[in-house]
Amino acid sequence: MPRIETNSGSSTAAGGQRETNDRAALAPGLFTKFQQLIYKEAGIWLAAHKHALLTGRLARRLRLLGLSNMQEYYRLVTQPDQQHERAVMIDCITTNETHFFREPRHFDYLEREVFPKWKQEASEGTRPMRLRIWSAGCSSGQEPYSLAMLLLKHFPTEKGWEIEILGTDISIRVLEKARAATYPIEKSKEIPAEYLRAYMLKGKGDHKSEMKVSPELHRVVRFARVNLHADSYPILGTFDLIFCRNVLIYFDLDSKVKVIGGILRHLSPSGLLFFGHSEHLGTIAPGLTTVAPTIHAFARSSHPLPGQTRSAAGMGESSF
Ligand SMILES: C[S@@+](CC[C@H](N)C(=O)[O-])C[C@H]1O[C@@H](n2cnc3c(N)ncnc32)[C@H](O)[C@@H]1O
Repeated sequence: MPRIETNSGSSTAAGGQRETNDRAALAPGLFTKFQQLIYKEAGIWLAAHKHALLTGRLARRLRLLGLSNMQEYYRLVTQPDQQHERAVMIDCITTNETHFFREPRHFDYLEREVFPKWKQEASEGTRPMRLRIWSAGCSSGQEPYSLAMLLLKHFPTEKGWEIEILGTDISIRVLEKARAATYPIEKSKEIPAEYLRAYMLKGKGDHKSEMKVSPELHRVVRFARVNLHADSYPILGTFDLIFCRNVLIYFDLDSKVKVIGGILRHLSPSGLLFFGHSEHLGTIAPGLTTVAPTIHAFARSSHPLPGQTRSAAGMGESSF
């Protein structure tokens, strides 16, 4: 049973520090084991130069659980019934940097090239007035909320449009922040004034250093924990847009292929897939075509999903 740490082990501050350092030391062989475990769980490959980062992040966890050394933590986290601790370990190493309206060229493209077409098709009755968007690897919610602001502006629900935005992430910690939908007021600089006025609420009194998304915005966005590297995940149906931006940067090629194959099963036939601007993934799947830099369509009918044989691709949705 893990115990909560006390200060009884050492009489001086220096001694205490040394004890902490010793117990958190991560021998090269054990680093390799964590590397493989993290890769198996989340598809994230921690390069050798991440040794210090992993040591620092896990040391905090070790202290909290009152464990004596990293070997003990490894034993704990690999037990079959320790799914929660494995999720916490992954939480320790994910990079969650994000902001509102990040990479504005993607938002401009939607307004310029995609939305007019959708409106036209809806008026001709060739497209339902229902839009589904997935932000895969959404971090603390800024990306799905930015998409929600853009969508609500162009496709007002009072005119009959139905909007559903799903934000998913592997990290429990960031999903809690996303659901809370409260951000430091200085982040308001990231949001264009018209959206700020329409969809964000400024805190008052004790909350004056915060802002919160409006109930209207909150209503169209929901969040779920999804590990994109898992063999299957509980996502239903297809999406008109999938944003998977700045998520696959720490993945090796095999993991990228696996994740993109999983995601593409949920892209509607006329849908678009967005990657981050520093990610060049357009050639990873034969059926992906580049409609603009880092924006892709997928010819699903004529190409197997990446990471699958052609016959397996034919199984379509049923494999979930
Ligand atoms: C750098 S953030 C990008 C956030 C947002 N998409 C953006 O571009 O601003 C990357 C996110 O991907 C998540 N992530 C990493 N590996 C994942 C996995 N296997 N499944 C789901 N999410 C993952 C991380 O937890 C993190 O929140």
